[in-house]
Amino acid sequence: MELIVKPTERCNFKCSFCSSTALVDDRATTLELERIYAFLRRFPQTSTIILNGGDPLMMPPEYYWKILAYIEREGLPTTLSFTSNLWLFYLKPDVWTPLFRHERVGVTTSFHYGDTRRISHAEVFTEEKFWAVSDLFLERVGYRPDFISVITPENHAGAIENVRLARRMDVECKLNYAVASGLQSRSFLKGHVYRVYLDVIAEGLAEWEYNSKQLLALRGRLGTTCPLSRDCDSNIRCLQPEGDYYSCGAFGDDKSHAVDFDAEVLRGGPVQTPLEADERLAFLKPECLGCPLFAICNGCKKTISDLKAEGRVEEHCGLMQGLLPELRPYVS
Ligand SMILES: C[S@@+](CC[C@H](N)C(=O)[O-])C[C@H]1O[C@@H](n2cnc3c(N)ncnc32)[C@H](O)[C@@H]1O
Ligand code: SF4
Ligand code: SF4
Repeated sequence: MELIVKPTERCNFKCSFCSSTALVDDRATTLELERIYAFLRRFPQTSTIILNGGDPLMMPPEYYWKILAYIEREGLPTTLSFTSNLWLFYLKPDVWTPLFRHERVGVTTSFHYGDTRRISHAEVFTEEKFWAVSDLFLERVGYRPDFISVITPENHAGAIENVRLARRMDVECKLNYAVASGLQSRSFLKGHVYRVYLDVIAEGLAEWEYNSKQLLALRGRLGTTCPLSRDCDSNIRCLQPEGDYYSCGAFGDDKSHAVDFDAEVLRGGPVQTPLEADERLAFLKPECLGCPLFAICNGCKKTISDLKAEGRVEEHCGLMQGLLPELRPYVS
């Protein structure tokens, strides 16, 4: 298992696309550590705890030192992987450097061009500021963090620039299409972002972009597995500030398809499968079952849910069919 922990919804940034703005009734609510320990007792082979939010640096560093102490005391194999805007690290590096240098801790950050990623309503998180954060991280922690770029209609035209930046920094970026949660009221069609992955591969930049690299690595194998053998439910869990519990971080943002924590964790019951149980999330439409693009179009159940809710299955399908000649080498 992997565990996503969103310890708080609070964040020091004001990104206009943020998916994680409706996690709690009271923004001061924080996740009790005992909930994480109970999860680790139930799933002691947990490989990674992904720390997310909100911004995880809105919690005191002691919160994470306690998790590390628990992991080491119990002899668990678990590592911690932060996803943070790192602005609080930049402002107070002495507070965070010892934690980030711990051998069980890794850090990823987020950046993209355009004006949707914002330090405040008045101030954009620019490339210049991103370099300053990355430089300080390199100096104090010893490496530059990889980064996630969220692609929306506002920044789509220049999306490949983020990958060129990753090459200059010699890190990996991950271009993710925006999902519809929180402030982002509409999803961004993944076909537009697959167009960018193909451009990234054509420009020889796949080494610096996670999804393009995956496409290349899976060349010829994507379409050969049984299209209905996906198992989102059995690999990952997500704990949110109020202690609510999901089998997908994105559904957690919507507080939908929860897993019963008491039954699965506290009483040690069987692993639950709320996403598999929802037949509406199995595929976009019956034609997908015989389509070579099944795995790409139906790989993410949150995306299936968004496209159906938005009534855009046909729009999405048309876009993907248009890419089929170029995607064919990867799917058959
Ligand atoms: C919710 S944030 C929490 C961590 C931290 N505050 C950050 O931004 O890196 C986790 C990741 O989700 C991304 N994200 C935010 N809103 C999104 C959306 N609507 N669709 C897809 N990804 C989104 C962020 O850019 C970030 O990379
Ligand atoms: S994307 Fe991350 S940094 Fe931006 S507002 Fe959301 S939680 Fe904060
Ligand atoms: S291209 Fe259309 S039919 Fe094929 S998998 Fe995607 S949505 Fe389904």
